[in-house]
Amino acid sequence: MTLTIVVPCFNERANVAPMVAALGAALAGVEWEVVFVDDDSPDGTAAAVRALARTDARVRCIRRVGRRGLSSAVIEGALSSSADYIAVIDGDMQHDETRLPLMLAAVAGGADIAVGSRHVAGGDAAGLGSPLRAWLSATGIRIAQAVTRAPVNDPMSGFFLLRRDLFERLAGRLTGQGFKILLDLILAAPERLKIVEIAYKFRPRLAGASKLDALVLLQFAGLVIDKVLHGMVPLRFLSFALVGAFGVVVNLLVLEGARRAGMGFGTAQSLGTIVAMVANFQANNQLTYRAQRLKGARAWRGLVLFLLVCGLGAVANIGIARALYAAHRSGLLAGAAGAAIGVVWNYAVSATLVWRVR
Ligand code: GDD
Ligand code: MN
Repeated sequence: MTLTIVVPCFNERANVAPMVAALGAALAGVEWEVVFVDDDSPDGTAAAVRALARTDARVRCIRRVGRRGLSSAVIEGALSSSADYIAVIDGDMQHDETRLPLMLAAVAGGADIAVGSRHVAGGDAAGLGSPLRAWLSATGIRIAQAVTRAPVNDPMSGFFLLRRDLFERLAGRLTGQGFKILLDLILAAPERLKIVEIAYKFRPRLAGASKLDALVLLQFAGLVIDKVLHGMVPLRFLSFALVGAFGVVVNLLVLEGARRAGMGFGTAQSLGTIVAMVANFQANNQLTYRAQRLKGARAWRGLVLFLLVCGLGAVANIGIARALYAAHRSGLLAGAAGAAIGVVWNYAVSATLVWRVR
């Protein structure tokens, strides 16, 4: 086997058969296989892949359950390969698969990674659609170029090819978070990688809808922060703590509003605290734990657990602060220590209990 093509997909059923046909046409003379990594799409993408795989040994399916994420899907697909080379391409026909032989030749000729680029001569990003998307993409590229040492014109590309042994060497150092697997790989390499860019024209989507939204961009910001901090502080914790800070603001706003409406301090503060905890649960469920978001009945159960965990966190917070205040008589120090213990407790316990992070 020369080449494994890894195709991350979510709700791409209509694109599966055209994709396999296009690969077949583009890769005549190459020993290839394609691995679709599907995160249990409700549209039945995995079933569409399996229907083809039953009669075509070049087609494989990895169906992941209880997990979401483009990067982690690519990692699992790539690690399932035994070929010499691995290519990654979107499953919606937006990337130009006819560039694959050129990319293969570039890496076989000594490059570490061949990147399909929309931003070199001959490339075209017109298929990005709205001006906002184009602007977001351009801004992301500028930030990415600032943190990577490798001069890549399209570091956000989801279309690239590399040797399998290089991927395997870097796999253990990948964050696996978010959308930017190429950037993740470049940042994981201790050495400066030799990158060749191959121009292609980004096509409009054939069917289905894009999954890249504002929250995905937040995750990208997380990847950059993680790199700057050298991975010393877990990103999840940062996100959790930021959400907590936002909760304090919510609490104070509700408290003030309720008091102005004539409520007594005790009741108003209780109301503020509860509203803040519910808002924090929502924000953490959407942001911090986006990959394992709780929905429906599980979200309600999660909310109740979260309130219990944070309630205990508040008790720990007050207990620690009281003890420190008794010993040192510094209200600020005691309050800060109590809050710090509270947020670490809330984070550690809710991660395992509410969102069940392994
Ligand atoms: N398994 C899995 N899990 N696949 C996913 C997930 C996920 O959570 N989210 C998206 N995908 C798949 C999609 O089905 C598609 O095949 C591919 O990943 C890219 O997702 P799109 O939703 O089509 O992304 P896009 O077209 O908006 O973004 C393109 O431009 C970005 C730069 O602006 C892609 O080429 C990105 O790779 C690129 O970074
Ligand atoms: Mn796309």
